[in-house]
Amino acid sequence: MLKAILGGVLAAEEASQVYSAFDQIGDIVIIKVPDSLAPRKQVIADAILANVKTAKAVFAQTSPVRGDYRVRDLEFLAGENRTITEYKEHGCRFKVDVAKTYFSPRLSTERQRIAELVGDNEIVVNMFAGVGTYSVVIAKKNKTCKVYSIDSNSVANELCIENARLNKVSDRVIPICGDASEVIKNQLAGVADRVLMPLPERAKDFVDSAVLALKDTGVVHYFAHVKAESKKAAKEQGTADAGEAFRSYLHEIGKTTVVREVGPRIYQIVADVSIQKG
Ligand SMILES: C[S@@+](CC[C@H](N)C(=O)[O-])C[C@H]1O[C@@H](n2cnc3c(N)ncnc32)[C@H](O)[C@@H]1O
Repeated sequence: MLKAILGGVLAAEEASQVYSAFDQIGDIVIIKVPDSLAPRKQVIADAILANVKTAKAVFAQTSPVRGDYRVRDLEFLAGENRTITEYKEHGCRFKVDVAKTYFSPRLSTERQRIAELVGDNEIVVNMFAGVGTYSVVIAKKNKTCKVYSIDSNSVANELCIENARLNKVSDRVIPICGDASEVIKNQLAGVADRVLMPLPERAKDFVDSAVLALKDTGVVHYFAHVKAESKKAAKEQGTADAGEAFRSYLHEIGKTTVVREVGPRIYQIVADVSIQKG
């Protein structure tokens, strides 16, 4: 549909550059406009707003996702000038601030996959919880688990509190604002059956903290970025990378999932690493 909409205002090749980098989060559309199309960004945004019925605002992403909080700069182009919206996924509702917090609709399959692995009465530590996406999806799916949800971004933490409430899992999603290493050291050492590390850019820096959070045995979902020539090679590379990251612990890598390509020949992977402490 987007192809058709943009086809009305751009040449086919130009249109493909825009629609491959189009994200809709709730009623907010975020596009990346290549420099060559910068003079036409307003026309593009107006066409999207006029034709995508569920869109109320259009922004251009003007920087990569960056910094500790993994946020991006946005330029308002059309519609309502607001960055807060509500997004629905797997029967859950999320209030998101697309300017002040990290959020990607492209991880929804991985959120569901991990939620399905969580067993009854598990204690989960989500080290980089953002607005609570993984935590809420997990807690909704398994009514007996508890998910400690850490984030150093206070805006994300506030939204995680609100999202836990919106989805009626406040009793089992426990948001904690702070640095994951410090929080684990001071409050969560040895509590977890499962630890999530959804900060692929800095995964290796936090391996010791992830293991510290575990009980004597448990699983760490290790997120990383690897360089590889193909998706198949990325899986092997991801397994090798996880093996290297956990080399000083007794571990076994159960499965490595290639989540998505995040740049030319750069893939995001998640390795499910079983740990035995000892
Ligand atoms: C890539 S985002 C993932 C957020 C969420 N899990 C999701 O998928 O929507 C990483 C998150 O880690 C947080 N973060 C970065 N450094 C941190 C640290 N040292 N301790 C706790 N959270 C941190 C950021 O604020 C950001 O929300």
